[in-house]
Amino acid sequence: MKNSLVELSVNALDRISRKRKPSPHRSSVRGKMSAKVAGAAKVPATSDWDVLRGAARTCKACPLYKNATQTVFGEGPLKARIVLLGEQPGDAEDLEGRPFVGPAGRLLERALAEAGVDRARCYVTNAVKHFKWKPRGKRRLHEKPNNAEIAACRPWWQAELKLIRPQFLVCLGGTAARAVFEREVKVMSERGSIVKTAWAERTLVTIHPSSLLRIPDSEARHREFARFVGELTLLAK
Ligand code: URA
Repeated sequence: MKNSLVELSVNALDRISRKRKPSPHRSSVRGKMSAKVAGAAKVPATSDWDVLRGAARTCKACPLYKNATQTVFGEGPLKARIVLLGEQPGDAEDLEGRPFVGPAGRLLERALAEAGVDRARCYVTNAVKHFKWKPRGKRRLHEKPNNAEIAACRPWWQAELKLIRPQFLVCLGGTAARAVFEREVKVMSERGSIVKTAWAERTLVTIHPSSLLRIPDSEARHREFARFVGELTLLAK
């Protein structure tokens, strides 16, 4: 049953798809975390999530707001044990105003379910709250946020985490890991490691689900999906 579920999800992926670990070190995270970044978003000093989200709607700390439809703030229970931190909203998220509602989000949800984790019980957010894209014909092509954009947006997810105080923080991909550890993180060599950070007793670095959508070979995609599920299983413990 379990296998057929995986099969189903990865086959669905086929249709969507066109086509040791140096540990991140806690003390360096703490050290840099408090540093004030010029141009960083001004976040209201509040423990009221609605006020935070409302303030984020008008954020102009970096230029990304200019081409985005709206700010996509995090969502989920404020008592969540697990926070999932992605990169930035994609096309679907930008239009809907909610994180991880497009193809990568559906895949994430399936992987979590396979791992025994209910997405509805997780708080889901992004390191950068506006969609960065460039036009390609009629399509809007995703572009990676740069360091200044990641730094400008950092106070928002930090404010979310201060409210939620999760047991587990999951960095989905390199941008999220870079935002948290404030250095480049080589996801393929550091994935699967769990370290304590200022944000959570257990912080896990893993891949971004959209990377699975880009694997052209079906067998490799199945294998990588299973590995991703294996890492997410750590959250169920
Ligand atoms: N990718 C992300 O990193 N976040 C989203 O919300 C959607 C896609």
